[in-house]
This record gives sequence, C-alpha cells and structure tokens, in this order.
Amino acid sequence: MNYIMKNNVLLISVFIVFITSCQNKSIEFSNANMFTKDPHSFADPKKAVVNHLDLYLEANFNEKILSGTATISLKCLDADTIRLDSYDLIIKKIEALDSKDIIPLDFNYGQNDPTLGTELLIFPQKKITGNYTIIISYQTSPNAKALQWLTPEQTNGKTKPFLFTQSQAILARTWIPLQDSPGIRFTYKAKIQAPKDMMALMSASNPTELSDDGIYSFEMNEPIPSYLMALAVGDIAYQSTGPRTAVYCEPSILESAAWEFGETEKMILAAEKLYGPYQWGRYDLLVLPASFPFGGMENPRLTFLTPTVISGDRSLVALIAHELAHSWSGNLVTNATWNDFWLNEGFTVYFENRIMETVYGKGYSDMLRKLSYSDLKSEIKEFMNSEPDDTKLSIDLVGRNPDDGVTAIAYDKGFHLLLVIENLVGRKKFDLFLKNYFKTYKFKSVTTSEFVQYLKSNLLDKQQWEMADIENWIYGTGLPENCPKVYPKRFLAVESAIENILINPEYNFNNSHWSTHEWLHFLNILGENEITQNDLVKLDSRFNFTNVKNSEILSAWLVIAISQNYKNQDFDKKIEEFLFKVGRRKFLTPIYQALINSGREGFAKQIYSKARDGYHSVARETLDNLLG
Ligand code: BES
Ligand code: ZN
Repeated sequence: MNYIMKNNVLLISVFIVFITSCQNKSIEFSNANMFTKDPHSFADPKKAVVNHLDLYLEANFNEKILSGTATISLKCLDADTIRLDSYDLIIKKIEALDSKDIIPLDFNYGQNDPTLGTELLIFPQKKITGNYTIIISYQTSPNAKALQWLTPEQTNGKTKPFLFTQSQAILARTWIPLQDSPGIRFTYKAKIQAPKDMMALMSASNPTELSDDGIYSFEMNEPIPSYLMALAVGDIAYQSTGPRTAVYCEPSILESAAWEFGETEKMILAAEKLYGPYQWGRYDLLVLPASFPFGGMENPRLTFLTPTVISGDRSLVALIAHELAHSWSGNLVTNATWNDFWLNEGFTVYFENRIMETVYGKGYSDMLRKLSYSDLKSEIKEFMNSEPDDTKLSIDLVGRNPDDGVTAIAYDKGFHLLLVIENLVGRKKFDLFLKNYFKTYKFKSVTTSEFVQYLKSNLLDKQQWEMADIENWIYGTGLPENCPKVYPKRFLAVESAIENILINPEYNFNNSHWSTHEWLHFLNILGENEITQNDLVKLDSRFNFTNVKNSEILSAWLVIAISQNYKNQDFDKKIEEFLFKVGRRKFLTPIYQALINSGREGFAKQIYSKARDGYHSVARETLDNLLG
C-alpha cells in the first residue's frame, strides 16, 4: 500500500485545487422539507445545510478503513455552529476554506446515541450567513456499519477482496461525516484511490475499465439525499446491455448477469412512458457478492443487486423494475423523514407493478400483485398481535431505528392504498396525477401530510376521499375493508393442483409452464396446511425443492419444510449451505425464525455463530436480536 501513501499528499493538493474550482455549485434553497425536523439526524438545516460534497477517499483493504477528506459546501443562516451526523468516524482535523485560505476550526462531539451515532459540532471563526466550505480530514472505523469488507474467500472469484457500502437508512454517517437526512440534498464529486488491480464504482458517473493508477473520479450532478451515497471496490468487469444500460460484476458471473438483465432498457422505456423522462442519464446494475444484505438498493445511476436474482430464466427481474422505479419514487421525489418511508416504497411497488404489466403483461403482473397481497395479509396478522401501531403507513419511528419501518406495511400496504385510489378515479386520471406529482416534487422531499394535501387538492373530491377511506389507510392500524383483491388467472391452475395434492401427493398435473411466481403461490398455500413427514418426502422428491436453484423458491421451501419439522440429512445440509452462502436479510430472517419456532434454536445458533462473520451489519443487527 506504500504507493498510495506517497501519492496521497500530491493527490490531496491536486484535489483542493479541483475543489476550489467548483465552489459555486449550489442548489436552490427552496425545499421546504429541508426544514422538517428529522428525528434521525442531528443536523439543524435551518442554520446550515449541505449542498455539495467533494469526497476524497483511499480504500485500505489491509486495515479495512477509508481515509481522506470530505469537503462540504454549506448554506448558512446566522450559524455559529454547524451540526453534522457521524458514527464511529475518526476525525483528524476540520478546516474552513475561506477564498483560498485554509483556516483550522474547533470542533467537538455533542449528543451520542447507539442508533443515531454522534453529533459533530463544528465552530466557524465567526457567525456565518451565506456560503461556507469546510474540509474534514477523517477515517472510518474498521467496523463502520455501512461498509462490508469482504475477504477473497467471500467473493465469487475468490482471488481479490471486495468492499461495498449500504447507506440506507442512516448508515451514510458511518463512512462520511454529513447531514444524514433524506430531506437534505446535495450534489457530489469524488475521487477514490483503490488498489491498482481493482475498480471503484459509485452512485454517480462511472468508469468502464480499470484505471492505470487505481484512481477513479466521479460526479453526481443531480442533488441527492445522503442515503444514496454508495461505493464499491473490487474485481469488477463491465458489459453493456443497451444504449444506457450495462452490468458490472465479478468477471466470473458477467455473462450470466448480462443475459439475466438484458431487458432493462425495455423497462426504462415502459417507465418513461408512464411517468416521464428518466432523469439520471445512465441506469447500470452492479451485482455484488452474495453477502449483500438486500435484494436491491436504488443507488442513483447504479443499482446495487444481490446475485440471488440471477436465476437463469429472468424470472426475478421484478426486482430490477422495483429499483428502477425508485429513480422516480424515492430518488427524484424522496420521503422527507423515515416516518414517511411508505412514500418511497409503496409508490415504488405500485410503479414496479405497472412496469411489469407493460413489459410482461397483466397475467404476469397480477401474480406479483397477489403475492404482495399474501405478504401483506401475513405481516398484518403478525403485527396486530405484537405491535399494531407498526401497521400504520404513517409510522412513528422517533427513538427507534428506521430499520424497524422496513416491513411489508410500507411496501405492500402502501401499494394497495394506491390501487384503491387507482380503482376509484380510473387509471387515466391516476397516471396523470402521478406524473404531475413526480414533476411537482422532483429533486425535493415530501412528508406524508404534504402528500395527503396534494392528493386532496389535485385528485380526490370529498366524497371520493371518504369512499377511499384515506385517513384510515394512512393513519389507522390494520387493513381497511376496501383493500382490493386480485384473482390471477394463472393461479387458478395452482390452486386446483394444490387442492388435489393435499389429498394425494402423487396427484398428477401439468406444471411445465409454471414460473417462479406460480411456485411461490403453491408454496404459500402449502405452508398454510399441515403436511405429514411422508408427504413432505414425496413432494420434495417429486419437485426437487431442496435442490432447486431458484433462491426465492428455495428459501420459501426451506421455511415451510422447517416449520413442518421436515427431517432429512440433505435438507439440513442445504439449510446450512444456504445460510452460509447468502447474506440477503429477507431470506435469512424467516429461515432462522422458522428454526427457532420449530424448536431448533440450537441448530440455528450453531449455524449463526459461524455464518455471522460473513453477514453485513444490517443483517447481523436483525439476527443478533433474533438469536441473542
Ligand atoms: N431501498 C430498498 C432497500 C432498503 C430499504 C434498504 C430500507 C435499507 C433500508 C430497496 O429498494 C428495496 O426495497 N429492496 C427490496 C426489493 C424488493 C421489494 C423488490 C429488497 O431488498 O428485498
Ligand atoms: Zn424499494
């Protein structure tokens, strides 16, 4: 790593010149929601608000740290203190950039909270009104929660290490000192020094090949909230898949990834036709190693993805439609606080469904809709027993981790509310309304109450308002009675098959044309019934569930079979293998939970104690709570 050290001094000075030359990038100070108090940030945007970031970071794989400078441009109003968010950052010094002079500043740590981190207080030389720029020299902790530093063994290629970030919801502050609030937007430029044989990518303009010196430059010229800051460094290759789409991933899976996601451009065209032009230039995909804790993350210009969506038959690409839809709902129009998370996810699931309908037909999107309804029903059932308030769309996460709001309520209840409105006013009107909503609030953030107001003023009259039961949907618990249901044609065959199977597991039916979604519906119904050991064995050997390659089908089967106390050596081996290989929290949690519920906590803990090291911090946190 010595060559990095030597270059460092030179690089930083070059970088400061580069920063001073782009000082005047400022955004309008007009977004009312910059001033909505965000309960998950220490920022005081009424006094000082970030509008541009220049980042210089060096990735040190030996020590698992990022170190460098964050140069932050702020707009201030009578500010004697600048408040930023940080979490386990080691701050070395903070300076102000006053014309060309660099002035050392005092700083201190304020409030401290295990979820929110540490308030970073910075004291300008005098009260500031107007533009102000500070340079923070810092490094991250080796345990920074957003970062996962993978060893070569934890990658697909097994030869080089890998680093990726996951900033949503409030983890950007664990690798960059900033105002980590979705109501605050800024543009950014970055320079990343990576080891020479690795590529660096960000949620910004990206390289397509290795650089000679390991230095990569990035620009994001559209203002984004901090949770969309993203970085990955690794043995990464590039393949174009269309005029504005490509996949990035480890070379060993490049070909299969490029095929799997070969229809992304079709989705972008469908999305644009629905709700207006794509605003971010390119839309590329980065397929990460299997420990990535989510299905996907909508980092602007570069969606981060789990490799578990590569099924070989394009059957899980709704996830691409989902992350793409966030380019409008989320990235363009952003939830003002994490209490408004449903505005991001509910709208996105609705939009995702519309994209899928356009590209793959209504027969297909209806299946997705029904699966969403099933998830919603079971989530509501569970929460109504334990935390009924968590079934509200407008959720109160004050004093809690915003991660607690990542449930099927935001996604599927949000989706179904939009279906209610669509059914009431008709598609034509609703589409126009949504298109205008995205246009009106583009590059801004929205609170739930603002959306409610907008809906009242621009779409629903009083009678429709009451009929849709909007208040109850948004501020009430449970599932309102007018929740629409769908009966997908393609599921009729599934339902008739399962009915017969439950009587006779050898019942013969034609499933040659079944997609993943038919199988998931099949398994959902199977899971609602009691099945004998004998029948489980028969079903498994007949449909080969334990050895199925499709990650969604496999994880659903594992949960069901565990819950039915399926005993079989191959099966146990498979559970272990899957939990070791995959770090996607949506799969891990129900499997571990099923093991606990069926009296196999010992087995679960034994696997977890060995697999935990390989999971990202957000998965660990959930599972630590589950497994003690
Ligand atoms: N933005 C989310 C992932 C997320 C949410 C990360 C909250 C951290 C906090 C992403 O768009 C998402 O919803 N992913 C889903 C995809 C699915 C619903 C298609 C996932 O990862 O399962
Ligand atoms: Zn999402």
